[in-house]
Amino acid sequence: MDTDQANNKAILEVKNISLSFGGVNALSDVSFDIVESEIRAIIGPNGAGKSSMLNVINGFYNPQEGEIWFKGQKRKNLKPYHIARQGIARTFQNIALFKGMSTLDNIMTGRYIHMKCNLLSQALWWGKAEREEMEHRKRVEEIIDFLEIQSIRKTPVGRLPYGLQKRVELGRALAAESTLLLLDEPMAGMNLEEKEDMCRFIIDANDQFGTTIALIEHDMGVVMDLSDRVVVLDYGRKLADGTPDEVRKNQDVIDAYLGVSNE
Ligand SMILES: Nc1ncnc2c1ncn2[C@@H]1O[C@H](COP(=O)(O)OP(=O)(O)O)[C@@H](O)[C@H]1O
Ligand SMILES: [Mg+2]
Repeated sequence: MDTDQANNKAILEVKNISLSFGGVNALSDVSFDIVESEIRAIIGPNGAGKSSMLNVINGFYNPQEGEIWFKGQKRKNLKPYHIARQGIARTFQNIALFKGMSTLDNIMTGRYIHMKCNLLSQALWWGKAEREEMEHRKRVEEIIDFLEIQSIRKTPVGRLPYGLQKRVELGRALAAESTLLLLDEPMAGMNLEEKEDMCRFIIDANDQFGTTIALIEHDMGVVMDLSDRVVVLDYGRKLADGTPDEVRKNQDVIDAYLGVSNE
């Protein structure tokens, strides 16, 4: 998306979120927004609260304080499944795929939230269920083409190299056709070429599907290239928020990163 966010429409608003586990404050009074169609990076040292933030956004964690607003509505108590149905998908810091299943079937699981036919209606209206299944398969094949993974369609994902597994996981998240996609370290552990590929797919997904993306990433080069805006967390607090350039020049950010290697 162009940095000129003319019609700055916040699709997600995080308002004064605090989350603690026993005595540990994972997040303290964090507020920021995500604007429609942007790529928003969340950065910060290890343990800063980045993954926790994504877990709050997709409903895995219930914060003790604060509010999440999605598409202009304050979220009530919702289960992650309902939040997924509302249009928020994610990938995980540690790959969470079905290792014994093929690439195709793993990506197909991303479609489940759209499947209308339950077992009973499948039994009663077999034709309808079949048609629906065909439509889902078609969409999955489009994603496989988009991610250039035709050659591994039938391969069990457990046998794929790490970089390709990450790509399949992106495919599954894209299959959900969400409005907001949350990516937790999509490029961690990748070599340079794999990272470049992943960057390209993220940018293309944003361009072609108009998907709004929030991603956690450690590689500052990637963050600077990819994102429209960056929010910086440190010890559960928001340290800075702005364009990549603004954040890079921010003295608090520079201080927080001094001595911190690129984990
Ligand atoms: N389920 C949990 N139970 C207890 N502590 C947690 C849990 N999840 C995260 N934390 C703690 O919250 C803090 C932030 O963790 P996390 O969000 O994973 O950071 P990051 O993703 O930025 O590395 C850490 O101190 C971590 O140990
Ligand atoms: Mg994390």
